[in-house]
Amino acid sequence: MNKNLRAAVIAGNWKMNKTRPEAKALVEELKPLVKDADCGVVVCVPFTNLETVLEAAKGSNIKVGAQNCHFEKSGAFTGEVSADMLVEMGVEYVVIGHSERRAYFGETDETVNKRLKQALANGLKPIVCVGETLDERESGLTEDVLKRQLIKGLDGVKGAGDIIIAYEPVWAIGTGKTATPQMANETIGYIRRIAKDLLSEDFSILYGGSMNAANAKDLLAQSEIDGGLIGGASLKPNDFSIICNCD
Ligand code: 13P
Repeated sequence: MNKNLRAAVIAGNWKMNKTRPEAKALVEELKPLVKDADCGVVVCVPFTNLETVLEAAKGSNIKVGAQNCHFEKSGAFTGEVSADMLVEMGVEYVVIGHSERRAYFGETDETVNKRLKQALANGLKPIVCVGETLDERESGLTEDVLKRQLIKGLDGVKGAGDIIIAYEPVWAIGTGKTATPQMANETIGYIRRIAKDLLSEDFSILYGGSMNAANAKDLLAQSEIDGGLIGGASLKPNDFSIICNCD
């Protein structure tokens, strides 16, 4: 992390986990553990937990995010949640284009782009996910894939604003296989060059994919890595706090 240049952020992505009582208990346990963290601390929780977590996090340094938002303002989109519904609740962040949404819910670079614009128009801070699959990496396509995701994902967006990018190699998510710190650093350096070319501004870029209490320090020591997007380890307050407290 280079905190002189860019904001450091550690964001938890709880994915589809935790009932409301469990969510409240997790945040209550986390609050004292991260209160002195020298980075932004965010938890991105299921829609059903947002109100509970916003209430539990009140008065603390923990910020709250959703894991998706729809690209239209309102209308006949059964099962969807709009950006302004999130803002009205007090939600600050939203994950956009997570690889699980791309893989299981038909998310494309085009829908990522539309959601991103809707999030920005409503003042949400988007965490935009990009990353290659194992096949793509092994076929030498990593840079092509990332470039395409960034060009299409950021198309028509004016200025970096509050956008955070998360580099999550799909093969490292939930597998226990982490990119080496050097590999993650190099790839994030590449993403930064492309994103800067596109929007003429710098971004905080997070690494995600099996980051945990044991490997976070090495990953976060890299100059290009501005923080983490943490899945499994964000469900364990102690482990998540160790990551948040890495300097
Ligand atoms: P894991 O940390 O469980 O690998 O998940 C990473 C992720 O997908 C965060 O969005």
